[in-house]
Amino acid sequence: MTRAIKIAPSILSADFANFGAECAAIESQGADWVHVDVMDGHFVPNITFGPATCAAIRPHIKGVMDVHLMIAPVDPYIDAFANAGADVITAHLEAGPHIHRTLQAIRSHGVKAGIALNPGTPAEAIAPLMDMIDLVCVMTVNPGFGGQSFIMSQIEKVRSLSDMIGDRPIHIEIDGGVDPKTAPLVAAAGADVLVAGSAVFRGGSVSAPEVYGENIRAIRAAAEAAL
Ligand code: DX5
Ligand code: ZN
Repeated sequence: MTRAIKIAPSILSADFANFGAECAAIESQGADWVHVDVMDGHFVPNITFGPATCAAIRPHIKGVMDVHLMIAPVDPYIDAFANAGADVITAHLEAGPHIHRTLQAIRSHGVKAGIALNPGTPAEAIAPLMDMIDLVCVMTVNPGFGGQSFIMSQIEKVRSLSDMIGDRPIHIEIDGGVDPKTAPLVAAAGADVLVAGSAVFRGGSVSAPEVYGENIRAIRAAAEAAL
């Protein structure tokens, strides 16, 4: 099933001292979702910010706030990120032993539930969870940092997930190393939400936001050309 491509810039590549204006700038330049990367220095070897920052950013986002939790444990913090105003909360399958409970907790807030898979985790791992998720996020880098190289072997995983999902209303999101070269590969394999950090923010700023627009359009056009 082919779905409209959505571009979700990751503010991991934005100016951390100016998140509000950065969110407004990417949305005005055509971003569909705003992707917010939360890292704890434990599940991944980098630290970003927590729910208070998400709550502060929220009023500056008109559309979808897509929160990607790279934290373990994750369950104690679901309430806080839901209360911060997330529209989508994605937790990692690898973040703990009780992913079913995690997904239930996310949905109990009326928030869409996503599950993220590290590059070493097979597509089949989500088979028992299909009725619990609104999104599966395929990590095409090892999570923790922006600007890493896309791992080509994940394309086959995207194809498998697309077959497993069929007509179910589950987004396939790609996170890591997405640019105009890799976007068509994952779009053709069935992905519909493309997260991009460095490829969106490169060369632009809140005072030169049109560069963000050019970058977003280049990724979108490359992906749509592959459908
Ligand atoms: C990586 C993050 C990504 C990251 C993507 O751990 O989850 O969202 O910002 O950055 P790029 O697009 O630069 O690979
Ligand atoms: Zn992410």
